[in-house]
This record gives sequence, structure tokens and C-alpha cells, in this order.
Amino acid sequence: MAEGARELVRYENVDGVGVITIDNPPVNALSPGVPEGIVAAVERGNADPAIRAMVMIGAGRTFIAGADIRQFGTNRPPPIEGRRPHQILDRSEKPVVAAIHGYALGGGFELALASNYRVALASAKVGLPEVLIGILPGSGGTQRLPRLVGPKAAMEIIVSGRHVSAEEAHRLGIIDELVPEGADLRAAAIAFARRIADHRPLPRLRERDDKLAEAKADPGMFEAMRRSIARRARGQKAPYHCIQSVENACALPFDEGVRRERELFDELENSDEARALRYAFFAEREVARLPDIPRDIPLRPIKNAAIVGAGTMGGGIAMSFAEFGFPVRLLEVSQEALDRGLARIRANYETRVRRGSLSEAEMNRRLALIQPVTSYADIKDCDVVIEAVFERIPVKEEVFKKLDEVMKPGALLYTNTSGIDIDIMANATRRPQDVAGTHFFAPANVMKLFEVVKGTKSAPDTLATAMDLGRKIGKISAMAGNGDGFVANRSRTPFGTEMNIMIEEGALPEQIDKIMVDFGYPIGPFATADLSGLDIGYDSRQRRAAQDPNYRKMPIADMVVEMGRLGQKTGAGWFKYEPGDRTPHPDPELARLIKQKALELGIPQREFSDDEILRRLLFASVNEACRILDEGKAYRSSDIDVMWLNGFNFPRYRGGLMYWADTIGGLAEVYRQIQAWHQQYGARWAPSPYLRRLAETGTSFRDAKPSRPM
Ligand code: 3HC
Repeated sequence: MAEGARELVRYENVDGVGVITIDNPPVNALSPGVPEGIVAAVERGNADPAIRAMVMIGAGRTFIAGADIRQFGTNRPPPIEGRRPHQILDRSEKPVVAAIHGYALGGGFELALASNYRVALASAKVGLPEVLIGILPGSGGTQRLPRLVGPKAAMEIIVSGRHVSAEEAHRLGIIDELVPEGADLRAAAIAFARRIADHRPLPRLRERDDKLAEAKADPGMFEAMRRSIARRARGQKAPYHCIQSVENACALPFDEGVRRERELFDELENSDEARALRYAFFAEREVARLPDIPRDIPLRPIKNAAIVGAGTMGGGIAMSFAEFGFPVRLLEVSQEALDRGLARIRANYETRVRRGSLSEAEMNRRLALIQPVTSYADIKDCDVVIEAVFERIPVKEEVFKKLDEVMKPGALLYTNTSGIDIDIMANATRRPQDVAGTHFFAPANVMKLFEVVKGTKSAPDTLATAMDLGRKIGKISAMAGNGDGFVANRSRTPFGTEMNIMIEEGALPEQIDKIMVDFGYPIGPFATADLSGLDIGYDSRQRRAAQDPNYRKMPIADMVVEMGRLGQKTGAGWFKYEPGDRTPHPDPELARLIKQKALELGIPQREFSDDEILRRLLFASVNEACRILDEGKAYRSSDIDVMWLNGFNFPRYRGGLMYWADTIGGLAEVYRQIQAWHQQYGARWAPSPYLRRLAETGTSFRDAKPSRPM
């Protein structure tokens, strides 16, 4: 074995079983040296007469998480055909048993599929998540999995990219033997290998085609699958290539299918979508790094949590905790409000049970974790409390005074405000070091973004524990500096302003929505506003107008609300809705009223090109994001991308707001356009000096350094 490979892949003879251990921390990715090491070890086992069977296992926390994603898009040498690990495994004359714990994903799962047998710990997960980074399984996964579970089930797994639990995989026949949790996987796999060592012929998926008959019986399944993903896979190639490759598995001889799979893989590896999705993958890991807090800072232990406020937000937060097994106390001082909140949670779960996305047992498990309480004394021993009461300063101050009185020393006091200065809440207590913001996005149990807001006095462990807590309840935590709207909402606000102003200037809601849906959003911004309810924005506009004489009013948006059109809940908003149906229908009557109002206001009407609409919305936000970065309110532009992906449904295959801005012809072009709009529209388009600096020095957001520490 080569010098480097010896460390990454170990080989030992355990009484006649060759144990191949992949040891490439943290996740045993197939980095250079690992595939070569596996090939050498399998050949060694085959050549050694003392060896009867082999076991392939991962060191550390996982089996193999797949190819090394960092290698993609670099000028790496192509694999040598015929010498790839799965091809060597196909030719192995001695049985190889893959012993899976943690994750067997992508290329890792493909190695397990090319092995003759698979045993797994009950907690293990397998899957082919390549589609999520814009590619397809490129080591035979699309050819072997259909031969094991049938093309339909294989397609579902490959096109969704989901993790399949060992238990489900066992049921599907992917895993031959489940090893109970806590047992010694290595020993169990060696014992298994001894048991099957002499079984011949060796089971090899490449030689099986019985399950492929399913496609002959139902040749329409591939078209049906294409149709079923048409909405969510809009603008993307990888999901369709996945389907094509499974279809090939059913139509072509095995080796030809593998060859075609590789061609499809090569076509995707450097596609714009794959680059953007890889960027998003790493951005979502980078966001956890806090440059100003030591990585190994001791976190405060969190065993139980309390939520103050059982409104829609508080209830959603409680559900997030329950979903991940955390006991949570839900506090409302009024029994009536508490009952309403609990009824809302129950109704939400029951709908999911009816739709089949949640089992009744799981619903009951989660409900049992949510303990309703009506007195602050009932939460005083909780390790963390998240305040989610009405969004008014005096109300919040009152709650924090109360928490300061009752909570045990060291308890973490977080607030779910979406915009109120964190220091106001912190200063209402005698322990501002324990206070920080934890901002959920509606619906709180669904949206992944968890914005942690740093108050002036928040202690480093208060913040680090909040970041970790977000991860533990399945969210993606991102740190933001304190200030009006923090980072996510503040960067999104100008988008909302421009969409309203364009309506005043002659664009229609359906036109703007179509452009944003074509761009990749699941629904357009006006339909989204209708979904949330237009009264929320209306109230906050009135408040702002009362506070700030220079506030730019939105007369047409106000008109819509004043007509009683509050969105879906009233059957009409920017769109019309049929009873019981969420589909937005353009409303010609509203279009007429908008035109009439614009005329009254004397606003010149004009036509908009698609590109202008897209840029007006997104550049306005890019400019604001630059101000945020310049003020040191965010660590890096990729954190803002993570926020837009997980808080606002920005199309993932476009990387994120800032990544997108980097890719459309350089920031000089963004800056030029913003300057032009500054001339035309005045102050709200004043270009950020940070953007100017980057534009003038030809620097991209990705390469830019923050202006100052947070
Ligand atoms: N390549 C390179 N680095 C990887 C990696 C991979 N496949 N998978 C994880 N890492 C890195 C992460 O970037 C992170 O690095 P950091 O500590 O420097 O930030 C570290 O490993 C730990 O990862 P996570 O923080 O994500 O750890 P978790 O425990 O939360 O999750 C995981 C583990 C579920 C394995 C998750 O990392 C994951 O989903 N990884 C990607 C899996 C994947 O997409 N595999 C397919 C790759 S493509 C392929 O195999 C092509 C083949 O068909 C030819």
C-alpha cells in the first residue's frame, strides 16, 4: 500500500477475516488516498490464502459520508476505470461485509452496495444525497440500488436524497442484519463474515435483475416521477438525471448503465446548480464558526426548557423542542390563552396525522413532552427560557423583570423578538450576561433558521449555548448583531419595500410573483404575504409612520388592507382565493383599483422587464446586506446566504442572495445599477460604501473580509 494510504485505510487479519478500517476523520470521506487504500486492501484480502472473508468498517463516528465534496470542481485526475473501489469489490472472489454505523452516504453507501452483504447498527442511516449537491450518485448507486429495492423505491430514495434509517433499510432488504444498539458492530460483522464465508455464489447486485421487472410492468413510472417533481425541481437538472439513470438501469446492461451514469455525473459536477449547492452545503457548516468565541468554550447544560407565551410563535417553538425529544413547559398566565395555544398545537399535529406525515404514537409522545403551566414559579428551575410574548416593549420588559425574579441562577434567558433591541430586555434584568435573542421564523416548527442575536452584554457561553441549542432542535443557527431587524429581516425589508413600490409604478402582483417563482422561489412574495396575513405589515407600517416623519408610506398596500383584503384568511388579499383552496388567482378588479389609485396619486405608470423586477427586489436587499456587513452586524456574507435559504426560502440551487449577486457578472455591475437607481429614486438606493469598495477592487463577497468585528 502507498505510504499515505496506510494511515487512511488499515488492514488486519482477525483470525481469517480481513478487517478493512477506513480512518479519515471526521466523516471518513473518500478523499485522495482512501479509494486507493480500499482497493489495495480488498486485493490484499483476495490474495491472502489465510483470509476467507472481509469486513469493511469506518473508524470514529461514522461509516463513510461519501466522496470528499471539497474535491468537486477542482482539477482532480479522473478515476481509473476498472480500478475504482466498487469495480474491485464487484470482482472480489471473497465475500465482503460492509459494517455500517453513523452514516453510509453517497459514495460510502455505494461501496456498501458493491459489497456482498451489509450489516448495520440500528441507529445507522444510509442514503444517496448527491442530488442535494446538484449531482447524481456516480459510483454505480443508480444501477445497484434499483436492482436491490426495485426502480420505484430506488428513485424515491435517490431523487429525495433522504436519509433512510437502518430499520427501514432492513425492511427494504438493503441491510441484511441489524445489530442492536450498544452491541459491538465490529465483532458482530466479523461473526457474520465467518458465517457466510463459504456461501457461494456470492450475492452481487450487478448480477441481479429480478427487481427490474417492475419497470417492464409499469413503464410509465419514470414519466410519472418526472411529472411529480416538476414543481419542486424547477430550474434544476440533477433530479432529472437521477431519474434518467435509474431508467437506464432498467434498460441497459449493467456496465453500460454505469458508464452512462458516469457521463451524467461528469455533466453535472461543474454545473451552476452543483456549484451553488456545494457552496450552500459548506456555508451551512461555516455559519457555526464564531470567530470571537473559542470553539471549545464550555456550554451550559440544557435538560429542560420553558417557553413564555403560547401564541402561534410560542406554540411553534414548543413543537420544535418536542420534535427533538426535549421536555418543554409552556407558560401562559391566562388559562384560557393556554388552552387556546394547546388546542392549536394539537390541531396542527392532528392534521399531520390525517395526512399521514406523523404517526398517532409520535403525536402523543410529543404532546406528552409539552407541559402546560400558568405560573412563573412552575418554570423557575428550567435551564433555559424562551420568551415569545406579544411584540411590544413594555410587555417584554415586564416578562424579563419577572424572569429575573424567579429563574434559578445561570438560567439562560432568551427572547424570540423579531426586531426589538435585545439590550432593552437584558437591561430589564440584573443578569444581562445571560440574555440573548433567539429569533425563530414563522412557522417556527417548520422554518430552519434560528437567528441568535448578540446583545451588548451577552456572555460568550450564553451565545454559544444558543447556537448549539438551535442545532439540537433541528435548526440552522446563525449569529446576528443587535439592531433594528437584526440581520435576516433587516436584509429582507428593502425587498418588501421595492415590491410594493413597483406595484405603485405599474407592475402587478401576479407579474412579480411569476418572475420570482420562475427564479426558483416555491411561491411568490405577494402570495407569501397573503399567506402570512397583510395586517401584520400594515400595523408595523402605521407604527413606523407614526415614529418617523420621513417614513416612505405604501398607499396601495394600505389600500388593499383597508378594503378588508387581509390575505388568504379573508379569501382575498393581493390575490383571490376560492373557499378551502390556497391557490392564488389574479384579481382583475384589484388590478383596476390599483391603477386607479396610482393615477390619483399621480405616479407615472410603466412597463417592467422581468430582469428589472428581479434586480429591483434582490439588489435592494444586497445593498442593505452590505450595510449590515460594513457595520459588523454579521460575520460573513455566507451567513446572510444561510439566512435567506433557511428563513425565506431563497432557491437553494442559486446559493443564496449574496452568492447569486457574485455570480451575475461581478459586483461592479450590481454597484453600477444601484448607483443608477440612486440617481432615479433618491436616498433609499444610496449605495453602501462597502459595496463600492468591493466593486472598485474587483472583490467578490466570497473573498471579502468583514469591515470590523461583530
Ligand atoms: N466531504 C467533505 N467534507 C465533509 C463531507 C464530505 N462528503 N461530509 C461532511 N464533511 C465535513 C463537514 O464539512 C464538516 O467539516 P467542518 O467540521 O470542517 O465544518 C465535518 O465533515 C462534519 O460534518 P457535519 O458538521 O455536517 O457533521 P454532522 O454530524 O452534522 O453530519 C453528515 C454528518 C450527515 C455526514 C453530513 O456531514 C453530510 O450530510 N455530509 C454530506 C454527505 C454527502 O452529501 N455525501 C455525498 C457526497 S457526493 C458522493 O458521494 C458522490 C459519489 O456518488 C461519487
